[in-house]
Amino acid sequence: MIPADVVYVTETAAHDPEIEDINAEAFGPGRFTRAAHAIREGGPHRRDLSFVALVDGKVVGSVRMTPIAAGEGRALLLGPLAVRPAFKSLGIGRKLVALALDAARKDGWGLVILVGDAPYYAPLGFSIVIPKEQAIMPRPVDPARFLACELVPGSLSNFVGDVVHADLARPAMRLAAE
Ligand SMILES: CC(C)(COP(=O)(O)OP(=O)(O)OC[C@H]1O[C@@H](n2cnc3c(N)ncnc32)[C@H](O)[C@@H]1OP(=O)(O)O)[C@@H](O)C(=O)NCCC(=O)NCCS
Repeated sequence: MIPADVVYVTETAAHDPEIEDINAEAFGPGRFTRAAHAIREGGPHRRDLSFVALVDGKVVGSVRMTPIAAGEGRALLLGPLAVRPAFKSLGIGRKLVALALDAARKDGWGLVILVGDAPYYAPLGFSIVIPKEQAIMPRPVDPARFLACELVPGSLSNFVGDVVHADLARPAMRLAAE
């Protein structure tokens, strides 16, 4: 297998069963107890900013992006990111992250966050460890794994408070009226 054999496409609903299978394989039942999962339960992800890697038409890797909010800040939550074990270390994970960040940038987003391993994600752009008191996930996370990538410098500054799915955030109009 060489990277040229891998095709990257925007996610569609038809990919859902294979993505679920890949995530089950990568994270096991524990995935349902994760802080990021609790946020993703609040609403849908953005399929147009999410990608799959295909080999011979089969999904071998997936990354999803979900709109989230904290205070007045808005961001995308990257994840789950998973690659089938047989296709690891071919650069698929790295490429999926790059595609997701690029799509986010083109769609006008300033901030992407995730919970993950800094040694993997820092070289991909997630070099900022979010200050522990700044943004509070619905379940405890290891502060060293709570990472941000500012697509627009300074965009992390107003991402403050409880992190929720963007659909559950208080509308800006109501905030302004208060
Ligand atoms: C993490 C994961 C998505 C990487 O996918 P991939 O396609 O193998 O990644 P890439 O080919 O872009 O990069 C591979 C490199 O990253 C390294 N790497 C993988 N996981 C890592 C981690 N958690 N921490 C540090 N480095 C890691 C590999 O050792 C490899 O190094 P090498 O190139 O020197 O051999 C994949 O291993 C996976 O699905 N893991 C299980 C699910 C998971 O942990 N997802 C991330 C959520 S935090």
